[in-house]
This record gives sequence, C-alpha cells and structure tokens, in this order.
Amino acid sequence: MLPNHSVPAERRRSWAEPYRIKMVELLKMTTPAERRVALEAAGYNTFLLRSDDVYIDLLTDSGTSAMSDAQWAGMMRGDEAYAGSRNFYGLESAVQARYGYRYVVPTHQGRGAEHLISRILISPGDVVPGNMYFTTTRLHQELAGATFVDVIIDQAHDPESLYPFKGNIDLDKFRELIDRVGAKKIPYISVAATVNMAGGQPISMENIRQVSQLARQHGIRVILDATRAIENAWFIKQREAGFADRSIASILLEMCSYTDGCTMSGKKDLLVNIGGFLALNDWEVFEEARNLVVVYEGLHTYGGLSGRDMEAMAIGIEEALNEDHIRARIGQVEYLGQQLIQAGIPIVLPVGGHAIYLDARSFLPHVPQDEFPAQSLAAELYLEAGIRAMERGVISAGRNLQTGQHNYPKLELVRLTIPRRVYTQAHMDVTAESVINLYERREAIGGLKMIYEPKYLRFFQARFEPVAVGTSREKRGEYADPQEA
Ligand code: F0G
Repeated sequence: MLPNHSVPAERRRSWAEPYRIKMVELLKMTTPAERRVALEAAGYNTFLLRSDDVYIDLLTDSGTSAMSDAQWAGMMRGDEAYAGSRNFYGLESAVQARYGYRYVVPTHQGRGAEHLISRILISPGDVVPGNMYFTTTRLHQELAGATFVDVIIDQAHDPESLYPFKGNIDLDKFRELIDRVGAKKIPYISVAATVNMAGGQPISMENIRQVSQLARQHGIRVILDATRAIENAWFIKQREAGFADRSIASILLEMCSYTDGCTMSGKKDLLVNIGGFLALNDWEVFEEARNLVVVYEGLHTYGGLSGRDMEAMAIGIEEALNEDHIRARIGQVEYLGQQLIQAGIPIVLPVGGHAIYLDARSFLPHVPQDEFPAQSLAAELYLEAGIRAMERGVISAGRNLQTGQHNYPKLELVRLTIPRRVYTQAHMDVTAESVINLYERREAIGGLKMIYEPKYLRFFQARFEPVAVGTSREKRGEYADPQEA
C-alpha cells in the first residue's frame, strides 16, 4: 500500500528528524578480532577505548551533538577579544531570557560551574541534599567539605517502577534531614532535572515548587542542575496535568523561577561540543563567582570558552527549545527503548530523556556486584558490535571517603546514551539487535576484577581483567547490602 500523504501534519505520530544531513563523518567498521585487541588494550574500560575503534558511540550525550549550520555560521562570528566579547553579551541575554536568572558566569563546562558554586556556598561540615548524586557534582561538594545526602524518592532506585516522575525529591526525607542536622548546615539543595543516574528521569513541576517552598521556609537555597532541564520540561508537558498546552520555553522558565541559580553543562541540552555556565539571582553570590572564575576558568566574560563557543551555545539555547527538535530527540530515545522492551530486555522504566539504561543486575544475575556486572556488560557490547556504552553502577559510585568501602548503589546499569542529531534510526536498530544478541548469550558472560583504581572518579581510568565465568557462578546472587551511593 502506498503511504497516505493526506495525513495532516498535526496527526502525525512519528518522531522523524526535523533536519537533513549536509555533511557526514565516516566510521570504521571493525572485526571481532580487532575489537578484542582494542578492548584488552583499554583494560575492559570503554572510557579507555580509542574513538577510532568505535562504530556507534553511545558513551555519552555530552559534547557529542551535531551542531547546526546556524551554529557553525555563528562560530565565524566569534569575537575573540580577551575582555567584553560580544558573544558573551549574546549568551548572557539568551540565558536571562530563556532561563530567567539575572547573572551569568560562563564556565568551560558544567563541572566548572559546580566547582564555583560548591566553593562559594559550602563550609566544611555542611550537608548538601540532592535528588540522587551526579559524579562530578557530588565530588565538588565533597571537596568543599560537605557530605552529600540522597533525598530522591524510593521509586527512583527501582528500575521497574513506572512512576512518571522518578526524579522527584522525597519531601519527608528532606524535612527529616533539616530536623536532624539543622537548616544552618544545609547551604543549598541540589535539584537535578532530569536525573542522570536514575535513568534520565524527570522531576515534576509540582515537586520543584514544593521543594522550593520548604527550602525557602528554612533559608536554604535551591540550586538547579539545568544540564538537561529542557528535556525535563518536555516530560512535564507530556505527563503533568495542566502543562499539555504550555510551550517548553514557558515550562523551563517556570522551573527555573523556583530556584536561586543553576549550574549548566551546555554540552547536553544546548547542542554544543564544549561550554557551560553558572547562573544566579543573588548579587553577593554572583560577585564571588565572578571573582573566583578569574582564578579557575578565565575572565568573567569568557570563563574558559572562546567567543565562538559562547556564540554556538547562545544559538543552541534557541534550537534546543524548538518543540520539533525536542520531540524528535526524545522520540529517538523512546524508539530504541521500545525495541528493547518488546524483546524482553531488562531496562530502566519508564524510558528517560537522554539514554536507555540496561539493568545489569537482571541481565547478568549470576555476576555478583563485586565483579562489576555493568562494567562487564558494557565491555561485551563493544565486543559484540563495536558499540560503546558506559557503566553506571558500583564503579561510578566510587568509594565512601570515610570508610574506603565501595559505595554499592541499588542501580547497576549500563547506559546507552544517545547523542543529539547524530545517529539514524538504522543505528538504533543495530543497537537493539546487538543488545538482544547479548541477552541470548548472557549466561556465558562473566564478571571482572579491578586491577588499577585511580583515586578520583575512578570509572574514567580504572582497568579490569575478566574473571572466569565459573567463579562468578558460585557466588550467584551475592550482592552486598545496597547503600545510598
Ligand atoms: N550534571 C549532570 C546531570 C551531568 O550529566 C553532567 C555531565 C554534569 C553535571 C557535568 O557536566 O561534563 O560539562 O562537566 N555528564 C556527562 C555524562 C559527563 O556523560 O553524563 P560537564
């Protein structure tokens, strides 16, 4: 049957891309033998693979997006003056208009902003609650002397829970923490939208509003991690009563209005390869940030970025808020998720905004958490098809700084992260087929032993070697007591 071209555009359900391809980047297809050599050289850590040896790179959606022709044209308008670059003022206006904060400090990427805000607001001995940790965010809080406390709702730790806003903060946990340590010890609450480590799960507008109300009653600031807040706004529009007819732009502004500032990695929502910012409403905090940025990043009108980077990010803000873009972006993630769900693959549900998370605990129940099932599954996926994914389990969770023990997170996941505007539907099909192949031969997949462990953010550089399959099997089901990581 011929396709029915008379279907009105507003009834079309497809997530088809609102762009066409002007330039391509050629990829190398590798053989299983070549991949075995590359994986061994990388110590079974996908972060240590060379990109040239990867076919479909789903390591991260960070800095891996394809920029538009408009962004590339903007690069040519870079004003590379040391001070007062016109691109800074363009970026500042775009952030003020779209995120609604008064003051903007550019930083080289998200963690630059996290470093500044942690140093400014945290005193040693403080406690910072948040809706699940993010690796760099928590580390900067800890390096500034704080202890991170996870106050996300319990459903976030359950990969099968279908709760629509698994990024929500449990108000009772937050209240209990205030009662226990006292508001004076809590300089701010860290609110992420969406929550990366929970599977890209959104937080609801109602929850942000309530968290903000409770925090403000106690004089506690709310700092938003706005890295994927536009994707979060899309979920609010889809899932929360009263938002279906609102624009993504107006939802974003309202979300930010309940907070005192944000840290931003422009490398995600904002479709650039590098860049970030710290945005604030409070003059005193801004003044201190403007002082510190000069020490750690660069002058307050470039913060570690070139003029052209700031221009591309300012244009990216507008493109990211385009509803056709965001529908296609999240639609593509959902498309891959649906293929895996239909094949019975255990993934974190509901499908989140930027990635599919394989539940390595259910995928490899015979591999104990001490043998890093998610790390092992990511390595096997590379061997299978040249697809690069990332561990988000016990290796990412690191060690408890006091006791030196592994943090054992409840979620032991492999993240298939989808870069924006980069891969096609056929790449998603190949990815689904490869994961399904792995699932069919999962019994033969064993665990790993860590043979090198760096001190900070160990997942980036740790090295592993395989443990014989039989060894793992004897320890079947042996998971340490999950702790809040
Ligand atoms: N916050 C969130 C929620 C993030 O996902 C990231 C980075 C950051 C902050 C830090 O930003 O990388 O620009 O310094 N996430 C990347 C990822 C690394 O792969 O998920 P950055």
